[in-house]
Amino acid sequence: MTKETLLSLLEAGSGEYVSGEEISRKLNVSRTAVWKQIRRLESEGYTIEAVPRLGYRLTGRPERLSLTDLLPKLTTRTFGRNLKLMDEVTSTQDELRKLAEEGAPEGTLVIAELQTKGRGRMGRSWHSPSGKGIWMSLLLRPQVPLQLTPQLTLLAAVALCRAIGRVVPLEIGIKWPNDLLVDGRKISGILLESAAEDERLRYIVVGTGISANLDEEDYPEELRDKAVSLKIASGRPVDRAELIAAILQEFEQLYTLYQESGFAPIRALWEAHAITLHKPAVMNTPQGPVEGVPFGLDDSGGLLVRMADDSIRTVLSGEWAA
Ligand code: BTN
Repeated sequence: MTKETLLSLLEAGSGEYVSGEEISRKLNVSRTAVWKQIRRLESEGYTIEAVPRLGYRLTGRPERLSLTDLLPKLTTRTFGRNLKLMDEVTSTQDELRKLAEEGAPEGTLVIAELQTKGRGRMGRSWHSPSGKGIWMSLLLRPQVPLQLTPQLTLLAAVALCRAIGRVVPLEIGIKWPNDLLVDGRKISGILLESAAEDERLRYIVVGTGISANLDEEDYPEELRDKAVSLKIASGRPVDRAELIAAILQEFEQLYTLYQESGFAPIRALWEAHAITLHKPAVMNTPQGPVEGVPFGLDDSGGLLVRMADDSIRTVLSGEWAA
């Protein structure tokens, strides 16, 4: 049984209950197999009511992004103008890399409804259920030395923070380097992957994951106290097309500013949105734990930390100790 055949049976029910027994008879599968496929459909954004003795009733379909919805909202010159909207991918990072290797222009964007192997920083996986989030990757081809690419991660965080703040009435803060938090819980993450040759930067793929319309039950148990969606935090669903358009606009604007005026204005904006500065903290870095008070960014985007003996350390990569 495929989920499509089950879906067509539920759809044929036209909003009425279809009994589990009838489904399992028609499709010649066990009741457990039916239930498993129902759960799969739910994880893809379908809402299905299950009532003992009555059966299953389809009550909602996943919201889908469409070009007709998205294109009229775009106000950018290049960002998102070359756009690929996909149903299911392993990771939008992989799809965009393929396009980049084929010569896709700066600003090319890949958006997917579902990622089966979404990835996060530090080799973690990124939970990307269908139709509920914004899972997208943007191609940049900046003329900057390879060691300055962390600046673009910080720029991306500022762009997201400003765009989300414009569309959803929530206080959003940046946790170094680029997690966005609402009330201490993560709503978004950024993964920057670069391709280089002989120490020269060829292109950057900026992956953005935003938990837009996930419900509590969409989160695995272990994420529930650490992550939250914009819908849960604000109490109402987010128009994903509107948010994507706002992100692209902020991103393009800041990127232009960065190219014209360098990192200094981006650094000031990042520091203004940061919520992890001026409080004692411990960071686990590849060089060992660093304990001190983070107070700002250096020129390359590293985190400046004042140590107990008043010396200053720069942390280029690391994780906050809990
Ligand atoms: C993190 O906080 O660890 C970064 C998460 C980045 C997730 C996004 S979703 C779109 C893009 N595709 C991926 O596989 N990852 C990024």
